[in-house]
Amino acid sequence: MMAPRTEIFADPQDTALAAADWIAGLIAAHEGTFRIALSGGSTPRLLFGELSLRRIDWSKVVFYWIDERFVPHDHPDSNYRMAQETLLSHISVKPEQIRPMPVGGHADDAAALYEAELKDDYGAETLDPARPLFDLVLIGLGSDGHICSLFPNNPVLDEKTKWVAAVPTGRPEVRLTLTYPCVESSRITAFLVTGSDKAEAVRRVRAGDHDLPGGRLKPVGDVVWLLDQKAASLL
Ligand code: 6PG
Repeated sequence: MMAPRTEIFADPQDTALAAADWIAGLIAAHEGTFRIALSGGSTPRLLFGELSLRRIDWSKVVFYWIDERFVPHDHPDSNYRMAQETLLSHISVKPEQIRPMPVGGHADDAAALYEAELKDDYGAETLDPARPLFDLVLIGLGSDGHICSLFPNNPVLDEKTKWVAAVPTGRPEVRLTLTYPCVESSRITAFLVTGSDKAEAVRRVRAGDHDLPGGRLKPVGDVVWLLDQKAASLL
């Protein structure tokens, strides 16, 4: 794995603009299906809006999520809804290109269902580091150093067999999350982080601090950090 590439921009808008151009270039240069796994939260909103304005051959792209709040897809807190509102409803994609995490029934069953879907798309039951599941994973970082719904001191951090897990504790609502082995299985892993409240977490995660969930991530592919000056202020 190459050393992480780090790009620092003036503010969240410039970071989103540059990230959108970079992702558009990755998709254009890619032969075949481009599997992208999206983060939720608020940071990606600007990026998704910029991506919706780019001339991209979206027919190559399959959209996945790295985590989800276990709420209906039309709920204000849904990561799927946020992506739908800011990107997916503005571009030409077929429903079969969009793989939302299921949010009905019991969370454990929904996690197992998503895992089966990922394995079906991947074509194998075990992940081969030489053949990553995703082409690009977009990761946001919490100020507590969490990524996905891999929260500090949470039992889900030790899940190394499942690809998808329910996370019943750590937040008011139940979450679904990709586990470390699954989210690490990407050709490119891009951290998209802005804001001064993330600066300490950025510093510690990049230093490999295992007290922070982000510091334990070992992506199989290349790592890129897309930061604004505030998030990079302690580097
Ligand atoms: C979620 C995200 C989560 C997010 C971080 C950063 O469902 O909330 O997947 O991991 O990326 O909490 O959130 P912000 O972008 O809102 O700061």
